[in-house]
Amino acid sequence: MPTITEGNPTIISLQLKNDDYTVVVGSGLLEETAKLIEEKTSIRSRKAAIVTDSTVGPLYAEAIEAALKEANIETCLITVPAGESSKSMEQATDVCRQMLRAGLDRKSFLVALGGGVVGDLAGFAAAIFQRGIPCVQIPTTIVSQVDSSVGGKTGVNTPEGKNLLGAFHQPQLVLADVETLSTLPDREFNEGFAEIIKHAAIRDASLLELVEKKDRIRDHLIELVARNVAIKAAIVEEDEKETTGTRALLNFGHTIGHGIEAAGGYGRFLHGEAISLGLVAAIRLSVAQSSLSPEEGARLIASLATYDLPTLLADDLSNETILNALQRDKKFEAGEIRFVLLDRIGSAFLSSDVTTGHLEAAINGLRSS
Ligand code: NAD
Ligand code: GLY
Repeated sequence: MPTITEGNPTIISLQLKNDDYTVVVGSGLLEETAKLIEEKTSIRSRKAAIVTDSTVGPLYAEAIEAALKEANIETCLITVPAGESSKSMEQATDVCRQMLRAGLDRKSFLVALGGGVVGDLAGFAAAIFQRGIPCVQIPTTIVSQVDSSVGGKTGVNTPEGKNLLGAFHQPQLVLADVETLSTLPDREFNEGFAEIIKHAAIRDASLLELVEKKDRIRDHLIELVARNVAIKAAIVEEDEKETTGTRALLNFGHTIGHGIEAAGGYGRFLHGEAISLGLVAAIRLSVAQSSLSPEEGARLIASLATYDLPTLLADDLSNETILNALQRDKKFEAGEIRFVLLDRIGSAFLSSDVTTGHLEAAINGLRSS
């Protein structure tokens, strides 16, 4: 189990087979970047790339550049366009080439500053640059603070599907500064609750009680992020490379969700919005095929709706488009679906009894409430 020291900041320490690292969750952390790197990692390089996107860079890169400069760390700032389309092999190559042109070498390190798109893309660049350099993740969205910055999954999309090219590359440090969440537009703030509700659904029923207090949630951001990081960290410690089935439970809602996200062309839905629809389908399948009660299912779906997440699918996305996209997903193994179901809130399992016919019926079920 990860060790947790509560407070501001809350410190969560992961112990993996080859990597131990710390996730710091608090406020006012950006200015402390250099100090925390010195205290919590073995990184001693004086040269770093800060990879960010066109929205986050202008807001937060200066604070990090200043903190690193103060510690005599030379930085180059690399900015990619905001949005999922930046998660491409072309963009990863471009980031690496900018790092080469700026004189970074295998002793340098990379700081990923942004949401899950930047974290996945820059983490992947760090994994392949000169066969791997250290990466510090500074996540700035709910999705990236509660989920994507922890666990080392990095990668890019291809026209064939999501996250199909990638590498495991654990960060050496994660700094989740909840103050950065104050500039997130409401839509992007809310989308993060799909992954939070997923965590509650698969591992921690009591987390749902905190989530349900939406009016006061912004007063509890450190607790909210830290509790989610603790859930994710425990699962990653149990099954770092997703080989035993435990980490695969984090895919709850993602089989159909990724199909919907890809079918929407990565521009129509935010990631969390597509996952919300995937969660609704998986919740209903859990009621139909497992022991999740209809009341528990309704409670989970109501919590998604509380955060204005979609629970109804428009008719113009055909089953065929979604099923085609979904069958290219990594969660299909040798054509077999490994589908995550709930037996109750807080407990999930992998089922091989869900057929393509069940998926189609579940997608149809999303078209009416
Ligand atoms: P994102 O990175 O695209 O961020 C959403 C939008 O918010 C972007 O326009 C971004 O510029 C903007 N933004 C980010 N931080 C901001 C801030 N503090 N203030 C104002 N605007 C800000 O999307 P996301 O939802 O963070 O991440 C989604 C991505 O994460 C997907 O590609 C998904 O596949 C990936 N993901 C990966 C994992 C993993 O384990 N690696 C887990 C979950 C999701
Ligand atoms: N987001 C799923 C995982 O990290 O395994």
